[in-house]
Amino acid sequence: MTVPAVASQFNVPSTILVGGGASDQAGPIARRWGASRVLLVTDPGLVRMGVAGKMESSLRAAGLEVAVFADVQPDPTDENVRAGLTALRHAQAQAIVALGGGSALDCAKVIALLSAFPEPMRQYKGYHKFTEAAAPAKINTSQLPGLIAVPTTAGTGSEVTKVAVITDTERQEKMMMLDALLLPRAAVVDYKLTMTMPPALTAAVGVDTLTHGIEAYVSRKASGLTDPIALSCISLCAKHLQHAYAQPTHEVAREGMMLAACQGGMAFANASVCLVHGMSRPIGAVFHLPHGLSNAVLLPTVTRWSIAGDGIEAARAQHRYAAVARTMGVASPIDTEQTACAKLVDALEKLNHDLAVPRLGQCKGVPREKFDAQVGKMAEDALASGSPQNNPRVPNAAQIVALYQQAF
Ligand SMILES: NC(=O)c1ccc[n+]([C@@H]2O[C@H](COP(=O)([O-])OP(=O)(O)OC[C@H]3O[C@@H](n4cnc5c(N)ncnc54)[C@H](O)[C@@H]3O)[C@@H](O)[C@H]2O)c1
Ligand SMILES: [Fe+2]
Repeated sequence: MTVPAVASQFNVPSTILVGGGASDQAGPIARRWGASRVLLVTDPGLVRMGVAGKMESSLRAAGLEVAVFADVQPDPTDENVRAGLTALRHAQAQAIVALGGGSALDCAKVIALLSAFPEPMRQYKGYHKFTEAAAPAKINTSQLPGLIAVPTTAGTGSEVTKVAVITDTERQEKMMMLDALLLPRAAVVDYKLTMTMPPALTAAVGVDTLTHGIEAYVSRKASGLTDPIALSCISLCAKHLQHAYAQPTHEVAREGMMLAACQGGMAFANASVCLVHGMSRPIGAVFHLPHGLSNAVLLPTVTRWSIAGDGIEAARAQHRYAAVARTMGVASPIDTEQTACAKLVDALEKLNHDLAVPRLGQCKGVPREKFDAQVGKMAEDALASGSPQNNPRVPNAAQIVALYQQAF
């Protein structure tokens, strides 16, 4: 389907189940779809913690045959997808249950599509490439294995997004794919699965969630459908992130952050992310920094730059960022928009400090020499992803280099 330039397209899974203990429902959902064999896609960490085993037992208790593919690595690669596809074919599974953070969920989304779409995988990088390829290749998309996404981080919101990020190992590039066909058929959002996240992971994935809310709200593609969800995501993060970080067993905070992550996913996938994500993917690809951390180190610097300037575009940006500040409760209704924007940047810096987020140059595995050698290519890759063009203020490559240097 071609979307007219003036229209906004809003896609979410047809079923979203939210609540403590909801993950027990993954098996019954697959059964209702008529599946008898499922592939459980997960990662080694969740196997070690016994979370994958528990899900496997629950699926078996629902009467399903279960094969397990547990080799998804953080920031999954094209090779992970191919290995998972082999497991899917070997098991002759009719449905996939993806259990994990954004990595397991994204890997499962692309496994499901590659069961019908031909290689090479990189032809699907970008926007709506699967949909464009479906008709000429005569692919019946209703025959694709149904995907049930069960997130264990709060998080990427990948369970409700039409987005997958897969690393092209040969090119050392994180490929962003956005297509309605990537949407899970069902999302099962159970905050109890996040209670085991250690503080550093809670912080990184939580700032990722906050970034989704902020970028969706300030994006040039924001719409009347995404705005309320984005603001709710921002408000929930402001209320719950620090508590979830300081008290990992705080049920109310965990539940709030899980809802925020889900809302952040719905908002950004339909309004787009902007400059922070555009710049963070090359950091992930080159230095293998976790996605949430690579966003967190950029968020204050990029926000400060995005609200600067004058003219009509800057006024629109400041209006939006001021609303973000007020939603977070860091600026009052009587503050001018400029004051509110300044308070927002201060609050984001303080949040990073409180969550022990380091500067980019202090992160493990980001040596100055390699950074200086790569920063030009990283800026080009950021621009090529398309995300910076949705930012309220659009940079050129030299300005992106300067922003990377500031964040360092
Ligand atoms: N598809 C999307 O819409 C979207 C959006 C944002 C990011 N992403 C992608 O998602 C990936 C990052 O996902 P992520 O940040 O959720 O992390 P992740 O999936 O990479 O997991 C990171 C680590 O956390 C562990 N972990 C997961 N759940 C845990 C739990 N409950 N307790 C303890 N440990 C746990 C995992 O075993 C893993 O070792 C990146 O590749 C990023 O590009 C996708
Ligand atoms: Fe993200």
